[in-house]
Amino acid sequence: MTTAHLTFDQTGDKIAERVVKMRSSAVRDLFAAASNPNIISLSGGMPDVSLLPHSAIRTATRAACDDERAVALQYGSTDGRVETKQVFCDLMRDIGVRAKPENVMITTGAQEALDLIAKTFLNPGDIVLAEGPTYLGALQAFSAYEPDIRCIPFDDEGMRVDLLEEELARIGKGNPRLKFLYTIPNFQNPGGVTMVPARRKRLLELSEEYGFMVVEDDPYGRLRYGGGHVLPLKALSDDVVYLGTVSKVFAPGLRTGWIVAPKSVLAKINLVKQGTDLCGSAFNQVVVEHYFTDTPWQKTLQKFVKTYRTRRDAMLAALDEHFPAEATWTRPEGGFFVWVTLPSYVDTGSMLSVALENGVTYTPGDGFYPGGSAGKNCMRIAFCYESPENLAEAVKRLAAVINDRLELYRAFIDAGAIKAE
Ligand SMILES: Cc1ncc(COP(=O)(O)O)c(C=O)c1O
Repeated sequence: MTTAHLTFDQTGDKIAERVVKMRSSAVRDLFAAASNPNIISLSGGMPDVSLLPHSAIRTATRAACDDERAVALQYGSTDGRVETKQVFCDLMRDIGVRAKPENVMITTGAQEALDLIAKTFLNPGDIVLAEGPTYLGALQAFSAYEPDIRCIPFDDEGMRVDLLEEELARIGKGNPRLKFLYTIPNFQNPGGVTMVPARRKRLLELSEEYGFMVVEDDPYGRLRYGGGHVLPLKALSDDVVYLGTVSKVFAPGLRTGWIVAPKSVLAKINLVKQGTDLCGSAFNQVVVEHYFTDTPWQKTLQKFVKTYRTRRDAMLAALDEHFPAEATWTRPEGGFFVWVTLPSYVDTGSMLSVALENGVTYTPGDGFYPGGSAGKNCMRIAFCYESPENLAEAVKRLAAVINDRLELYRAFIDAGAIKAE
């Protein structure tokens, strides 16, 4: 005879209020569904690590397993290995930023940096400014510290700095609750848009005028498929807190990122990091160092860029061909994502189950706003992972699902039951 074991959750009433308010990331939840081979996923932002040459991985890992094994397997300093910091300073120089190892801290991916910054600077109710929509992992990291996150819309030229100025006027100069502005100026996640130089300059002027810190998150900056390089905010002001990561130019499995910031800021973050993880993985730092010094990583990066450019082009061509006239979308010059806006009466959250039945997933837009406060008629679609053929097929399937919905609404509009937009 078999016995059923029932487990009761005895911790339900003990959970901290901030966790009760947390929502699981829609993307994480979608990973499970996306493992079905009949479904083409446009939801996750996974880099295509199959493009990495085996020889480069072997070269990069060899030292950590052999000569440098003793340090690679040991605890390290909280702020990271100086050799790794130097590698990141060299990477920063290529994009126009002069950084010294003393201004660098190694983190467990950019995600840890987001959490550490929030943990270091935010009290409940403090104000954080960010593009709206913005990276949902940042929203998850920040919301644990219960801030008041205010969204600034973007257009094709990045964050609407004029609207930022209006928001700042409402907040007021010298407001102690205003802590930082979080921005992804290059190929924004989820928007795909890039902030133009004039807006970067104005944003920095405003940060001085109103006294807030600027946190620049730049995982996609090197994945540019058209247009020219735009100088990072960090190249224009030493005060900017810059976040880098190897996730999109090497591999997210290494969980290695970095912060470049004034020493006084890093000292405070260091205290917090000690309590979080003591130090990042020394093993992974050694691997990263050797990847960027002993392998032709720039050639591999070109391969990434070429592949993603072809995929982006395939997605944009399919959108032009199949998507209805009522839809609009961004045309990214780099990165992984296109942001689609549908008429306000379409709810992309409830449409997702129908899309899944039709063999395609995307990420509903409301997850990219704090508390799901907007974006219900929007979606993020990623072109980084699937082949051009699959992307074309996925967009076709998605267009059919959207058109079905729109037909219903068109009938209502024709009958005068709802107003056309
Ligand atoms: C804008 C942005 N910031 C941070 C991260 C997290 O990066 P990491 O893998 O370095 O933790 C991502 C990952 O997709 C991202 O898109």
